[in-house]
Amino acid sequence: MNVMKIGFIGLGRMGMPMAQNLLKAGFPVTVWGRTSSKLQPAIDSGAQTSPSPKDLAAICDLIALCVTDTNAVESVIFGADGIEAGGSAGKTVIDFSTIHPDGAKQFGNRLRESCGMGWVDAPVSGGPGGAEAGTLAIMAGGKAADIDAVRPIMPAISGLFTHMGPAGAGLVTKLCNQMIINASLAGIAEALTLAANYGIDANTLPDALTGGWADSPLLQSHARRMAKGGDEKPMGGMWLKDMDLACDVGRHTKTPLPVTSLVTEMCRMSRERTGDGTQIGIMRLYADKAL
Ligand SMILES: NC(=O)c1ccc[n+]([C@@H]2O[C@H](COP(=O)([O-])OP(=O)(O)OC[C@H]3O[C@@H](n4cnc5c(N)ncnc54)[C@H](OP(=O)(O)O)[C@@H]3O)[C@@H](O)[C@H]2O)c1
Repeated sequence: MNVMKIGFIGLGRMGMPMAQNLLKAGFPVTVWGRTSSKLQPAIDSGAQTSPSPKDLAAICDLIALCVTDTNAVESVIFGADGIEAGGSAGKTVIDFSTIHPDGAKQFGNRLRESCGMGWVDAPVSGGPGGAEAGTLAIMAGGKAADIDAVRPIMPAISGLFTHMGPAGAGLVTKLCNQMIINASLAGIAEALTLAANYGIDANTLPDALTGGWADSPLLQSHARRMAKGGDEKPMGGMWLKDMDLACDVGRHTKTPLPVTSLVTEMCRMSRERTGDGTQIGIMRLYADKAL
């Protein structure tokens, strides 16, 4: 039996452990990155390297991406020496990045028309911990034949893989995931602040609410970190990127998103004022009486 050859581009916090899990499962993996020094952990785990996305696509069956945003995906596929130039029918791109669903649709159609490659958008949930453990929840969009082509790698990286519909549907599902998480976290931040202002130790809230209807993994993990005062490193702009994408899809589909819009602006305000556009930054806004 031929072993599927995998190419991996985007070896960051998420992509590196995913690529390493594929290597551990016995898949041959070839990597490319614009910053070659950052590829070393993958090389140490047994990966080969390629001089360009084009060369990588020419020798691999399945090309996985886990880069920052829509522009980054477009540039590695369609830029100079991009994947498109080395691709052909029978090969598939699987994009694990969180990008605009309309971009995914366009990239999938363009790839199929220009070189015959298949496309699956497969954004992930579970964070770097889930990537390391190989338990990511993956929500996929694409044609049934392309989904079948990527299924063999799922046991190595995912605890749950769900086909949600055509190209773009995986990404809209991921944006729903982000909407639910961020709206819940804003509510938790507000509740912790009310408790603290009443003189209750906010650290005791997650314990006191355990097992009730407000209990959740978010209450048990994030709320504890938020209650401690958030001395963590700012987490950058990814949360805001995802919320802006959700708002944009809301506008295109004429779906009013009042809660998501409000929470998005809270993330933006917290990034502007605290350098952290996540729930920890939102908690700081409450603590500083900036809301
Ligand atoms: N972190 C999370 O908790 C999490 C959870 C779920 C989903 N995601 C999504 O997963 C994706 C990756 O996130 P991450 O946290 O792994 O990000 P990251 O650590 O910043 O890694 C991003 C990777 O993309 C590469 N890259 C960016 N722009 C590129 C370009 N134009 N050409 C080539 N390579 C490029 C970077 O290369 P360089 O090293 O050369 O910059 C880096 O390897 C994002 O779409 C994010 O929204 C993240």
